[in-house]
Amino acid sequence: AQDFLIAPSILSANFARLGEEVDNVLAAGADVVHFDVMDNHYVPNLTIGPMVCKALRKHGVTAPIDVHLMVKPVDRMINDFIEAGASYITFHPEASEHVDRSLQLIRDGGCKAGLVFNPATPLSYLDYVMDKVDMVLLMSVNPGFGGQSFIPGTLDKLREARARIDASPYAMRLEIDGGVKVGNIADIAAAGADTFVAGSAIFSAHQASDPHGYNTVIKQL
Ligand code: DX5
Ligand code: ZN
Repeated sequence: AQDFLIAPSILSANFARLGEEVDNVLAAGADVVHFDVMDNHYVPNLTIGPMVCKALRKHGVTAPIDVHLMVKPVDRMINDFIEAGASYITFHPEASEHVDRSLQLIRDGGCKAGLVFNPATPLSYLDYVMDKVDMVLLMSVNPGFGGQSFIPGTLDKLREARARIDASPYAMRLEIDGGVKVGNIADIAAAGADTFVAGSAIFSAHQASDPHGYNTVIKQL
């Protein structure tokens, strides 16, 4: 295949057995651990922070950890996640007072930096900072919860983002997050995404009684 990466969102994992769940999806062929950080302020839900990221590293996870910050303010979380072993740190530009500075802080810490675009956030936030961006993440649902449906208009936005990236001199990944399933991933890839977050598609397959459900889904994705 092409340079495609599958990034299970551990938001849908069983948090009481998180280390094991992460080991299992990686063993099944997943490439990246997608780590959703929600603060009950920028989004109406509350999840996990740097301590859990650090615990996964201590548990022995060596795969890239893709930290998706849905927090406001952004900057004071950046250092904690750098120290906790994050690989990618992405944030929502509307949540940062100084987007250029936040991107720079992430790269200065040795991590890859990314901007996340909500369904209604224009891609023009990329203007003037493309040289500091390693990952463009398009939300195909409104952030805050797993298990929502893919918003179809995101396919056009993906094509637009792909065109911008290809027209730039920079190598950026194009990630999609929200409602990615076995049945729509081919269309999403055709629209230009190369990194696919999937939460409920992967973990509910598992929890719905098939002990190897996620092996099957990850292979199909
Ligand atoms: C939503 C999160 C997603 C979510 C995706 O705010 O950013 O990563 O876990 O879950 P699914 O794949 O179930 O839509
Ligand atoms: Zn996410």
